[in-house]
Amino acid sequence: MMQADAANAAAQAGEAAAGAGTAAQAQPSSNDVLSFYETMASRLSQEEGSFWLPESLANTADKPDFAFYFVYFLSVICFIGITAAVVYFVMKYRARPGNERALPSPTHNNVIEVIWTVVPALITVVLFVIGWRGYIENATPPRKSLEIQVRGAKWNWEFTHENGVKDKALHVPVDTPVRLVMTSNDVIHSFFIPGFRVKQDVLPRRYTQIWFKATKPGVYRVYCTEYCGTSHSQMKTTVVVHEPGGYAKYLQEMQKALDNVPPEERGKRIYNAYCVSCHTLDGTLRVGPSFKGIWGAEHEMEGGAKVVVDENYVRESILTPQVKIRKGYPGSMTPFQGILKDSDIEGVIAYLKTLK
Ligand code: CUA
Repeated sequence: MMQADAANAAAQAGEAAAGAGTAAQAQPSSNDVLSFYETMASRLSQEEGSFWLPESLANTADKPDFAFYFVYFLSVICFIGITAAVVYFVMKYRARPGNERALPSPTHNNVIEVIWTVVPALITVVLFVIGWRGYIENATPPRKSLEIQVRGAKWNWEFTHENGVKDKALHVPVDTPVRLVMTSNDVIHSFFIPGFRVKQDVLPRRYTQIWFKATKPGVYRVYCTEYCGTSHSQMKTTVVVHEPGGYAKYLQEMQKALDNVPPEERGKRIYNAYCVSCHTLDGTLRVGPSFKGIWGAEHEMEGGAKVVVDENYVRESILTPQVKIRKGYPGSMTPFQGILKDSDIEGVIAYLKTLK
């Protein structure tokens, strides 16, 4: 399924290159590689699952799912048993001629009281043991896990792999323990992969972790589940679980592509990864000003100063956005100091110049 998608994406990338009349048709260009992986990450796999839970796609789902269904069936049995008993007694002891009020009700019965205390106590102990064992297992990554750094920011996720490749979608190998080391650039976010049953708050100025071993290749949903401001609902991405060998290939190809990508293209990638939730390209207003025709325009700032959008202004606005805030906007942008490199900023500048 995923391989078919991948083949389609590759074919499309090839067609696009041919359509644009590029000379490098034999060797896929950096753009082809980047858009190939972008397309791959954007095509969600069909998830099956039950009425109650999404499909289980990682080892970390086993224990929580067992605990859920254990409680669920226990509740169903109790519900049916109690309802049946109530209905039966209501019928049997209803008031009717010849069935007058019986002797006074019993006030105490040792056998019944012991049963209804001991049985529920044992059930809660069983539930505790199931929950505790699952918690310990999911909180303890194996020592030899693959590590991937995760950074949450308003309103996107960024994943950095061991060889330095950064991406806005999470790529992992199948059947391999992966440990995510997570931090936030600004406020509290929460990283959630429903199919893996892993969810963890992502906090500024400290690290939190989760781990999992994905069991089925495919592309699945990732959410932010902590309300983190205006575009919280847009703070979502995907996890691509690669078939054996696919992850190593991804790392290698991405590294090469990212090193060689032309500036406007680098800028476009940065835009799609970081800017798109607040800045449109078509003039519509979101949290921040639209980028349509922004290059060279003169804007009024809070306080009345006029500023021309040029290289230095763009650089300053990316690294320290609070210094100059355009009049009429909330000034809620996160600083990108330490996140974007100079070459990234130069890419954004080159990209903004192309937006008419
Ligand atoms: Cu980040 Cu909600």
